[in-house]
Amino acid sequence: MKQELIEKARAVIARNDRGHYTVPTHGLYPFQWNWDSALSALGIAHFDETRAWTEIETLFLHQWEDGKVPHIIFHEPDDGYFPGPEVWATARNVPTSGITQPPVTGFAVRRIFDRARDKAMAEKRARALLPRIHGWHKWFYRNRDPQGTGLVAIIHPWESGRDNSVDWDDALARVPTEAVGDFQRRDTSHANPAHRPTDEQYKRYIWLVQHFRSLGWDNSKLHDASPFRMVDPDFNAILIRSCSDLADLAERLGESEIAVESREFAERGIKAIDSLWHEGLGQYVCYDRVAAKLIDSPSIGGILATFCAVPKPRAEALAARIAKLGESARFMVPSHDPTAPEYDGLRYWRGPVWLIVNYMISDGLKVAGQDAMARRIDADSIRLIEKGGFAEYYDPVTAEPCGGSNFTWTAAMVIEILNSEKTPA
Ligand code: DGY
Repeated sequence: MKQELIEKARAVIARNDRGHYTVPTHGLYPFQWNWDSALSALGIAHFDETRAWTEIETLFLHQWEDGKVPHIIFHEPDDGYFPGPEVWATARNVPTSGITQPPVTGFAVRRIFDRARDKAMAEKRARALLPRIHGWHKWFYRNRDPQGTGLVAIIHPWESGRDNSVDWDDALARVPTEAVGDFQRRDTSHANPAHRPTDEQYKRYIWLVQHFRSLGWDNSKLHDASPFRMVDPDFNAILIRSCSDLADLAERLGESEIAVESREFAERGIKAIDSLWHEGLGQYVCYDRVAAKLIDSPSIGGILATFCAVPKPRAEALAARIAKLGESARFMVPSHDPTAPEYDGLRYWRGPVWLIVNYMISDGLKVAGQDAMARRIDADSIRLIEKGGFAEYYDPVTAEPCGGSNFTWTAAMVIEILNSEKTPA
């Protein structure tokens, strides 16, 4: 059974492999996506280490001079996706988008390095990536934390990866829609529109893109100029974890300057993230920098914060919070509390379960000694793919597979989970 699932997962990845990068899935997402690639490399490394390193290197070949790693690399023309390169207009040789995505690469590289069978290759390739990843982390703190709070803001919901989360509803409502002009969405021709963001949300997503484009994609200006500035606990936790993993890796490779700076970023971040704790909900929540307030929204963003080394009592509280969600969800972990009025079990980030999120939460819980809950989440991840195949996401009550199918990172997570010792399957 286990071997059969691994073979199926490999077939999904092979289908989406474009040689030096993978697409998330054929049709819906026909280019290279930033955090998809980093997480997919983890799964690929189990059967082809060389190819796993290439996946990440390709991403960093398209890093901007200021340090940013864009969220999409448009390697080959494909008119099946909107917004394409002409909308972003970032004037790169190989076109890219102008925003970024959760910086999970530091974590992924360290993990691939730790497990490497070919140590010499791992050392050579990790050493070359180290300053580039560190450059990206510095870019974040320089451009997205201008006040030096220790936490960074995202300036577009797409940066979070959790595009249509309830967390953004109020802030997105402030984004104007006039002057956006007509456009034709492509996502809804590949996936069920009931599983995707609404047209109203899309107009606001595109307004932000046009606004940043009008500022010449100058990252020193975009943060302050954006009407959408959100401090997301999940995004920050991923950055903090990547900084701390990069610090460990840099120490081992004798790169002391990177090690010291990365450690400082992580330590400052861990202290600062506590300001996002919501006692009433028993989890972290987002902070809206424009409205200057915490957002009362029980989403997965504040639970995924367990991916960084939050204090033990916080990790315990998060495990209890997940157990509570389990009273209304059959499959862990829903991206929004099923008892909340905004919950929608089919619609992208407003309820469905995502395997990559499950993986990161489970990993954080294991580090914090919350093994029982971590094992339950891993088991649910495997049950979901047994029932519904390698979907983009799943309804947490019915297990219905949603969004795109044959997803690279879902397949990669299955390979990861089944190869980890603690998996019941
Ligand atoms: C999309 O197009 O749905 C993506 O999430 C944006 O990167």
